Amino acid sequence: MAEVARMPELEQALTEVAAEMAERTDRGDVATYIPQLGKVDPKKFGIAAVTNDGRVLTAGDADEPFSIQSISKVFTLTLALGNVGDALWQRVGREPSGNPFNSIVQLEHENGIPRNPFINAGAIVISDILLAGHQPREAIGEILRFIQFLADDETIVIDREVAASERATGFRNLALANYMKSFGNLNHPPDLALGVYFHHCAIAMSCRQLALAGRFLANGGKNPATGHSVVSAERARRIGAMMLTCGHYDGSGDFAFRVGIPGKSGVGGGILAIVPGVASLAVWSPGLNANGNSRLGSIALERLAKMMNWSVFAP
Ligand code: DON
Repeated sequence: MAEVARMPELEQALTEVAAEMAERTDRGDVATYIPQLGKVDPKKFGIAAVTNDGRVLTAGDADEPFSIQSISKVFTLTLALGNVGDALWQRVGREPSGNPFNSIVQLEHENGIPRNPFINAGAIVISDILLAGHQPREAIGEILRFIQFLADDETIVIDREVAASERATGFRNLALANYMKSFGNLNHPPDLALGVYFHHCAIAMSCRQLALAGRFLANGGKNPATGHSVVSAERARRIGAMMLTCGHYDGSGDFAFRVGIPGKSGVGGGILAIVPGVASLAVWSPGLNANGNSRLGSIALERLAKMMNWSVFAP
């Protein structure tokens, strides 16, 4: 796994995967429950790989920004762990939920403690943690600047129309936040935690920017371009473990089985995936499967991992 990616082979694999995906008609369904996301062209497909030795390879619509949605939860988890350390795990679990991303059912049995930081309830608690000592706009700014710093790209922005569309239709998230507040697992008014949550979900990035932002996770917590440490090697491994076990909601087991590397999806159709020791990958195809994960994005990663012999389980 620690072997450096062979470049000509990777470049060709990306091109082949993008060509195959462009031809396919079984693209899944674009999310419409956030009306602004329903306007995206389902024919889009982009893929990017950033290797630990500094190469950036792309194919398809890899420079077109899309709504990263729940992929942002990887970055908010990283920031919150930096702020409060392992105390975070007293308020959020680390088990796969086996339920849809927006499910409320486990919260009652589990006293308002969400199963993991990637389901909506868990990410709302993480937003609440990031609010400590801040106004919502400061917490949102901190998240955005962190992602800009990771990608080394200050042009990354929040799509305000998507954020407004989420707020206007986010009744389920409102229920989750109020319910957790009733158990004492939110320190701030639900509305404020949700303001942070809706805005970080509405960050827009291209595959290239996303793969760049994820590279510290493929390189033991260090940005391979600068050598600067973002998180400890242990923390990078643990974030990867959360992605592998919980990154695709009730489709996490299937993704681990088919693709074999950690990944985090978003309902905008993006997936950030990590090949530890080798590369950070981002893929985007807006049509979703039944679990709300990118249909062609996960198939593309499955193909690519097979072609490159990438798996965290490979000898
Ligand atoms: O809470 C929501 O509905 C969205 N802002 C994020 C959900 C999401 O991306 C789930 N991922 N597949």
